[in-house]
Amino acid sequence: MIDFLAYHIQEAGRMALDAQAKLTAGDISFKGERDLVTSADKAVEKYLVDAIISSYPEHGIIGEESGSHGADASYCWIIDPIDGTTSYVHQQPYFSVSIGLRKDNTMIAGGVYAPALNQLFLAEKGGGATLNGAPITVSSCEKMIHAILATGFACLRKRSGADNLAVLAKLLPKISDIRRCGSAAIDLAYVAAGKYDGYWEHNLNLYDIAAGALLVTEAGGTVTDLRGNQDYPASGIIATNGAIHDILLQGVIV
Ligand code: IPD
Ligand code: CA
Ligand code: CA
Repeated sequence: MIDFLAYHIQEAGRMALDAQAKLTAGDISFKGERDLVTSADKAVEKYLVDAIISSYPEHGIIGEESGSHGADASYCWIIDPIDGTTSYVHQQPYFSVSIGLRKDNTMIAGGVYAPALNQLFLAEKGGGATLNGAPITVSSCEKMIHAILATGFACLRKRSGADNLAVLAKLLPKISDIRRCGSAAIDLAYVAAGKYDGYWEHNLNLYDIAAGALLVTEAGGTVTDLRGNQDYPASGIIATNGAIHDILLQGVIV
C-alpha cells in the first residue's frame, strides 16, 4: 500500500499546487475565528477519499475536512489534505499533503509531500524513511545551544491555555535558533531528515501528526507527548533526534 500512498499523495500535491496559483477570495473561508480552509483543501481530500474507497472499500478514513468514516476498521487512512493552509492561502511554499496508514493501533506507513518544495517524505514501519527516494536519518546534534528547533502556536489559536510563548521565551536563549514554517507535518518531516534537531507543539490533531511521527521514528528519532509518554497529540507532541529529547522535555515545562 506504500505505492498507492506514494502515487496518490503526489497527485494530491499537484492538485493543491495548481489550485494555489488560481485561488480567489471565493475559494477561501474561515472554519473558526482564524482557521482558514479553501476549496482546494476540500477537493484534495475528496480526491484522496474517492481513491481509497475505490481501491480499499473496507478501509476506514479519518479526514480533517470530511471527518471519520469507519475509523474502527483494521486499516484506517489518516488524511490532512493541506497542512499549512494559512501559508497556502498567503502563496507561501510551506504546505504539505499528509497521509498516514494505521493498521489496528499501529502506524504502518506515512507520507508528507510538500509540492512547492518538491519534497516527498515516505516511511514504512520497520523500513526506514526517505526524502525523494534517498534514506534519511535524524541529526546528531547533542547540545541544545547548537540545536535548531521548531514549534507552532496551535494553543494560542485555540485559546487552550497552554502558554507556548513562555516556553519559547525560556528556550530561545538556550538554543541556536527557532523555526516556524506553518506546517506541523513539514516540521516533523524536517526532524526526520535532520533539518531540525527537534520540534514541539501543543493542541494538534491526529491528522496533523500521524504521518510525520512515523517519519521521525523510522529515521531514528524519538516522539513523545509533552510528559514523555505516548499520549500524543492529545497531550502535546515533542519529536527530536533522540539525543536532545530529555533536555527538551525539561525545557517545555514552564
Ligand atoms: C495547521 C498547521 C500548523 C499548526 C496548526 C495546524 P492546518 O494545520 O499544522 O503548523 O500550528 O495548529 O492547524 O490547519 O493548516 O491543516
Ligand atoms: Ca493540519
Ligand atoms: Ca489541513
